[in-house]
Amino acid sequence: MARRLRDKVAIVTGAGRGIGRAIAQRLAEEGAHVACLDRDAAAAEATQSLLAGAGTAIQADVTDEPSVSAAILAAAALRGRIDVLVNNAGIAGPQVPVGETDLAGWQDTIAVNLTGPFLCSRHALPHLIATGGSIVNIASALAFIGWPNEAAYGPTKAALVQLTKGMALDYAGKIRVNCVCPGAVRTPMIESVLPEGAAAEAALAEYGRIHPLHRRLAEPREIADAVLFLASDDASLITGGSILVDGGLTCG
Ligand SMILES: NC(=O)c1ccc[n+]([C@@H]2O[C@H](COP(=O)([O-])OP(=O)(O)OC[C@H]3O[C@@H](n4cnc5c(N)ncnc54)[C@H](O)[C@@H]3O)[C@@H](O)[C@H]2O)c1
Repeated sequence: MARRLRDKVAIVTGAGRGIGRAIAQRLAEEGAHVACLDRDAAAAEATQSLLAGAGTAIQADVTDEPSVSAAILAAAALRGRIDVLVNNAGIAGPQVPVGETDLAGWQDTIAVNLTGPFLCSRHALPHLIATGGSIVNIASALAFIGWPNEAAYGPTKAALVQLTKGMALDYAGKIRVNCVCPGAVRTPMIESVLPEGAAAEAALAEYGRIHPLHRRLAEPREIADAVLFLASDDASLITGGSILVDGGLTCG
């Protein structure tokens, strides 16, 4: 069967674990060479080791412009092109309401979840325009619904949806820009916001139950499948779109 990203080069930020790792694996399965960016060099290398020669680990912090600039240049040098940028790196941020969110936590969340995609997009744009490529941003179902104790996270993801739409218009005819909006996904991020001890399993089960379709958490590969679709020519007429992969969470 023809592979959908044959001879393409994709950059995946936050590729060291969780959803980013699954995206890197899925894009590599379809023929892409994947630049696995992560601020955690060992994690990026661990993902590279899973890609059977179809990946290259690059240490980079998406909040730091010189780091982003160097990483994009390194990715472009791998095969002389960049076809796909997946802005996946993100953090949960402070798990408290606004009154208890300190300025540093607020700013960190904006820096990783919103400034990171802005910087990576800005530096990748000339390469993506040269290939007629595309950007896929990983936002969240929480871009569309309010959620308790997530003062910073939801606003950054709503803004990422808007960044997607604005870029889709500004670069129409040159590149496509879309986003994927997951519900709760089984990754280290979600484990990091669970309560301690026995309550963790119950909280995880509850996260699953609130998704009407199957009453379970998503697996990272289910998010990666949507990214693959948007990154491939199968989505040739889709730009500015937000695909919800949330098991119906936001329907009610
Ligand atoms: N897990 C979920 O339930 C869920 C739901 C909706 C959306 N998302 C989004 O999906 C994306 C991935 O989430 P995940 O659950 O896989 O997270 P994760 O915490 O498991 O993995 C995130 C990866 O990003 C890297 N990273 C963090 N900050 C970085 C930075 N400044 N520069 C470079 N790399 C950085 C980390 O080192 C890590 O490898 C995030 O944008 C997240 O907001 C996750």
